[in-house]
Amino acid sequence: MLPVAELHLHIEGTLEPELIFALAERNGISLPYADLDELRARYEFTDLQSFLDLYYANMAVLQTEQDFADMTRAYLARAALAGVRHAEIMLDPQAHLSRGVPLVTCVNGVASVLATSEGDYGISTLLIAAFLRDQSEESALAVLEELLAMQAPIAGIGLDSAEVGNPPAKFERLFARAGDAGLRRIAHAGEEGPPSYIIEALDVLGVERIDHGIRCMEDPELVERLVEELTPLTVCPLSNVRLRAVDDMAGHPLPAMLAVGLNVSVNSDDPAYFGGYVDDNFAQLASVLGLSEFDCVRLAANSIRSSFASEERKTELL
Ligand code: HPA
Ligand code: ZN
Repeated sequence: MLPVAELHLHIEGTLEPELIFALAERNGISLPYADLDELRARYEFTDLQSFLDLYYANMAVLQTEQDFADMTRAYLARAALAGVRHAEIMLDPQAHLSRGVPLVTCVNGVASVLATSEGDYGISTLLIAAFLRDQSEESALAVLEELLAMQAPIAGIGLDSAEVGNPPAKFERLFARAGDAGLRRIAHAGEEGPPSYIIEALDVLGVERIDHGIRCMEDPELVERLVEELTPLTVCPLSNVRLRAVDDMAGHPLPAMLAVGLNVSVNSDDPAYFGGYVDDNFAQLASVLGLSEFDCVRLAANSIRSSFASEERKTELL
């Protein structure tokens, strides 16, 4: 198995249907689905928002530190089988705070497992607090201050949720504050939103990496810049197909992105919702798009080089 770094992963998006039912039972929560089949029947998405509605609704079962820890352990166990040796994991604190789950519960639940992930699963990890772009910047700033005050073990911040209508510039002060605090910065851009959002994320927010970024292909000048600056783009093929950002896998722009020299990697985004983990993404790329072994090696190397892992760890994995 090719060693890869997973750079675009929402831990809440690893909540598998079986675990949703198990946690609902443990926490005495009644789900609006009679059984697994009824839940699985909801995994037909028409766009990003249709997915986000289910993704946020299913979080209701995450109540205790143990719930967050169990979800994190399940991801790491599965990711290890996929060849993941380093993972940078996003957590959406606001999605839990708004349900009355304290920050310390979600952060500690995930972070307690990540603290020993290298020894337990062979996966070095770091945690990224992602902010919901459809909420206000004030809300994000308040949560960031709270994270800093509690010395949460976060390496950086990200920006996710409903993209269109919530341009990166809305969060200029948030990203400036994070930069001042020494945090790494990434943002989703160019998934459903226009190429101009990618430019804004780079120039206004100062991000080091773009999550998705596939719509850069509509702007040749931007592509040229991204190639020149070696900007990492964390592409998620199965996610793009399932959220209909692309028509089908055969029409995915990844081969074209590789061909023009963009620094792309392959990631699973929300694997429990989109039909697979990193290995499944690679398998689809190989079978549908005829991606060669050489391309796969290059994609894996891109992921490791584009990570925030220590130089020693990168050398070990390359
Ligand atoms: N895009 C935006 N927000 C998200 C995603 C995504 O792919 N997954 C979880 N939150
Ligand atoms: Zn994402």
